[in-house]
Amino acid sequence: MSTHFFDANAANWDIPMRVERAQAIATALLREAAPAHDARVADYGTGTGLLAVALAPHVGEVIALDNSARMLAVLEEKCQASAIPNIHGRRFDIEQDEIDPALCDIFVSSMVLHHLRSPAQYARAAWRALCPGGLSIVIDLDSEAGEFHQDHADVHHHGFERAALDQVFIASGFEPARFSTVFTLRKPGRSGPEREFSLFMMIARKP
Ligand SMILES: C[S@@+](CC[C@H](N)C(=O)[O-])C[C@H]1O[C@@H](n2cnc3c(N)ncnc32)[C@H](O)[C@@H]1O
Repeated sequence: MSTHFFDANAANWDIPMRVERAQAIATALLREAAPAHDARVADYGTGTGLLAVALAPHVGEVIALDNSARMLAVLEEKCQASAIPNIHGRRFDIEQDEIDPALCDIFVSSMVLHHLRSPAQYARAAWRALCPGGLSIVIDLDSEAGEFHQDHADVHHHGFERAALDQVFIASGFEPARFSTVFTLRKPGRSGPEREFSLFMMIARKP
């Protein structure tokens, strides 16, 4: 997808709702996945690293992947300002680049999958990136009516049906996933009135 929107919005990305969302996701991830202190976590579509920064004190390394140079620049500034030693940013696009095999113990993405054309391509890349026993963790919107985004230019899915997404990952070799609701938010929908949107967290293990 084009990086234009995310490059243009990088400097103003960290609004309170997104900060609160990332903290809720980090808390749930640490509780549900219980990563080892030396775990390597790849945060795909890290953006300004809100989740990466929250996870970094609890794991060995966070490999922060994104195709937006401006998003990664904001994250780099944060890491320097707060002397965070174990986040390593890297430009990467699953739709164009091949992921390193056995890169990590946890491959996580938050609010990225709906921006990608193919969840199956994502699942195959996550499988390749993970060590045996590793966890794919996807946080995204539950299926919605196209109201979440004001601009649909780079939106390929209006959320996901949990059971259907599970089947996509099973077809790539993952064990059946666990799902939980990790965050809900209210905001005006595309057609006007305020609506509630729920986010799931899907955890699937690579055997
Ligand atoms: C909605 S933002 C989410 C950012 C962050 N995970 C968060 O929760 O705040 C989506 C992020 O995915 C990145 N992204 C979108 N498509 C991508 C792709 N094909 N390859 C890599 N990164 C991508 C964008 O640049 C952006 O930083």
